[in-house]
Amino acid sequence: MNKLFLPKNFLWGGAVAANQLEGGWDQDNKGLSVADIMTAGANGKAREITDGIVKGKYYPNHEAIDFYHRYKEDIKLFAEMGFKCFRTSIAWTRIFPNGDEEQPNEAGLKFYDQLFDECHKYGIEPVITLSHFEMPYHLVKAYGGWRNRKLIDFFVRFAKTVFKRYKDKVSYWMTFNEIDNQTDYTNRFLMATNSGLILKNDQSDAESLMYQAAHYELVASALAVKLGHSINPNFQIGCMINMTPVYPASSKPADIFQAEKAMQRRYWFSDIHALGKYPENMEVFLKQNNFRPDITSEDRIVLKEGTVDYIGLSYYNSMTVQSKESNPGFHFIGPELTVDNPNVEKSDWGWPIDPLGLRYSLNWLADHYHKPLFIVENGLGAYDKVENSQQIHDPYRIAYLKAHIQAMIDAVQEDGVKVIGYTPWGCIDLVSAGTGQMSKRYGFIYVDKDDQGKGSLKRLKKDSFFWYQQVIQSNGSQL
Ligand code: BG6
Repeated sequence: MNKLFLPKNFLWGGAVAANQLEGGWDQDNKGLSVADIMTAGANGKAREITDGIVKGKYYPNHEAIDFYHRYKEDIKLFAEMGFKCFRTSIAWTRIFPNGDEEQPNEAGLKFYDQLFDECHKYGIEPVITLSHFEMPYHLVKAYGGWRNRKLIDFFVRFAKTVFKRYKDKVSYWMTFNEIDNQTDYTNRFLMATNSGLILKNDQSDAESLMYQAAHYELVASALAVKLGHSINPNFQIGCMINMTPVYPASSKPADIFQAEKAMQRRYWFSDIHALGKYPENMEVFLKQNNFRPDITSEDRIVLKEGTVDYIGLSYYNSMTVQSKESNPGFHFIGPELTVDNPNVEKSDWGWPIDPLGLRYSLNWLADHYHKPLFIVENGLGAYDKVENSQQIHDPYRIAYLKAHIQAMIDAVQEDGVKVIGYTPWGCIDLVSAGTGQMSKRYGFIYVDKDDQGKGSLKRLKKDSFFWYQQVIQSNGSQL
């Protein structure tokens, strides 16, 4: 059989987000972001979202791993692993500290100039997310976050500024990180990170606010795509979705249909990004349930004109749902329908480990959208132990990544899916988004820092560092 191989220019690399590694939270005029007001949680304990900075509380993103001052050392290590690309985000608050200024902050722009130059020194292509869980907190306080249409203009101004400034340094962009996370509108963390929405205590407004905020984000994304292409027609601008395929708990028709409805409820975001319009099921759902987001006919034209070039996705796990007699309409009421899948193992944080689910996801996305796919996050959060001689043996991480890369290669070779790159999450240990922990480690590079913020910040190469180096060097043929 003739096998398809990964293309020679396949984008192997690693992924991070500004707020989770840069630190320097108040340096060079940077403004306060939503990530800066989140305290540390723990395994199974949510982070607290405070109203501004509260004295005496610990905010792990403030220093993070101090990449702001150590990026040269870190990029050098990425280059040693053979990275072809490096995915990070631009902190909106470094460029527009409050989000609603007319003029950008030159010091913030300079930082990313230097960072991208450093990448190019080693032939590493920057892959940039515009909004990754770090919108200006001022936009939350003064405008109520993305429930407000004004946010579209602020975001587009930010996008225009960085597109123009970095048009010759960055070719790959994404608009909103994991925009579909907010499907789970009962989760305070996800609503704050996606959309800057601080919910009422009884959450009665959560679902309708989510549809409104998501619509404005989708319009802002489409405007940014169109604008980006006019600034540099060679830009590749993608969306970024959290791909968590939903399985039925059994072969019962009701379970299968429930899983289908859950998929519809999670992936209408990518339908709009990729196809430029609301899917019919969503139009009907909004109407029948009396949600009346402000969607104008001009918006619908914008959505059509700003479809993305590729689908960026994160993949960590699958999820499984079971239908309920009490829910005859098959609504997807998030966590209430989720059940344990006994066929897959779990990480220490209870995340299902399901490599075949990645191949399934890639097939599903290719069949629906017929666009190139870019796996911009995948990985295992795990506890690591430093041995006496400063070695870190992490066979569990290697096993996870190996199985997932194999699943990706199978999707390319056996199913004909077009995948343009693979950037595992947290290529260097960083602050966990969900828990604020340092001990939930994803990296090939260990960072000496603990959950209380103590440590030398020294970088150490794990076993997986050398393993991934060989994966890249062999273009995936030696796993
Ligand atoms: C994705 C996010 O949800 O998953 C990242 O894009 C995040 O920001 C990653 O860090 C892993 O999640 P966590 O909660 O383990 O950090």
